[in-house]
Amino acid sequence: SWTTGSIVEEQVAAIRAQIGSKRAICALSGGVDSAVAAALVNRAVGEQLTCVYVDHGLMRKGETEQVEKDFVAATGATLRLVDASERFLDALAGVSDPETKRKIIGREFIRVFEQAQAELVAEAGAAGEDVAFLVQGTLYPDVVESGGGTGTANIKSHHNVGGLPEDIEFQLVEPLRQLFKDEVRLVGQELGLPEEIVHRQPFPGPGLGIRIIGEVTRERLDLLREADAIVREELTAAGLDRDIWQCPVVLLADVRSVGVQGDGRTYGHPIVLRPVSSEDAMTADWSRLPYDLLARISNRITNEVRDVNRVTLDITSKPPGTIEWE
Ligand code: XMP
Repeated sequence: SWTTGSIVEEQVAAIRAQIGSKRAICALSGGVDSAVAAALVNRAVGEQLTCVYVDHGLMRKGETEQVEKDFVAATGATLRLVDASERFLDALAGVSDPETKRKIIGREFIRVFEQAQAELVAEAGAAGEDVAFLVQGTLYPDVVESGGGTGTANIKSHHNVGGLPEDIEFQLVEPLRQLFKDEVRLVGQELGLPEEIVHRQPFPGPGLGIRIIGEVTRERLDLLREADAIVREELTAAGLDRDIWQCPVVLLADVRSVGVQGDGRTYGHPIVLRPVSSEDAMTADWSRLPYDLLARISNRITNEVRDVNRVTLDITSKPPGTIEWE
């Protein structure tokens, strides 16, 4: 019969058989899929696996630390953290167009990862070892989608660690290929991954870069990170994390409006809250969050986040709106 424990055992045995005595690498994104895939491979081959985490500087508050500390503490996996935030910010300077931003972030991510990959291969080679495997968190729906040829229009160019170029020198290890998302979460739990990773809501690969409407700058990222942290804190405190699908927080960086605070006039930016309910992100409805919760979020953001003097709520379903603003 189907149990999470038997899935883990079965996969661990299959991974050991596949990798043998060679080495493997895995790109961690902070998301549940890559974390569970890496944890499984780590359980199977331990130090033969090296995880690489590219910090593009577009993550939310505490997320990089979560990978750096909590993931490593839970799994004992070997992790290389590449701080590439400077590089991403430079590449994004002066860019406001959403698709251009997505392409730049995707391109830089691949370049940085390939560089880390090449370094690892060189080091292992010097030690007489062979890095032959690339671990990916591909799920069953991804397999069906890419093989099924559904002919759906590509509305936004997506970026995630599953979309890395398949270097022909690497063989893929995809231990989640037969699993659905809820099963992946159960496996993650079984492997002892922290709740925050196992039940993380979806977060786009390009991160906060596509939640700043306008040019992405360090200052704007800091501001959005603060607002986003407040929203997540309040949603968690209200016990609503499992009820909503996700809640993008968007900074309208090119818009200013007049406000009043203390005894002074302000001229600051609006923040948009985009809480949605959904089954699969293909369609979505805006979440009817309690008014007192919205009031608390609004008060806290305008009081605590410098330069933000207005909080607005997105009440558009998908379609016609997408979940993200870019
Ligand atoms: P949209 O905005 O198209 O988003 O309604 C649908 C879902 O996909 C997430 N999303 C992404 N996930 N890489 C990802 O891994 C991406 O580039 C990306 N863009 C959007 C979005 O957060 C929502 O859950």
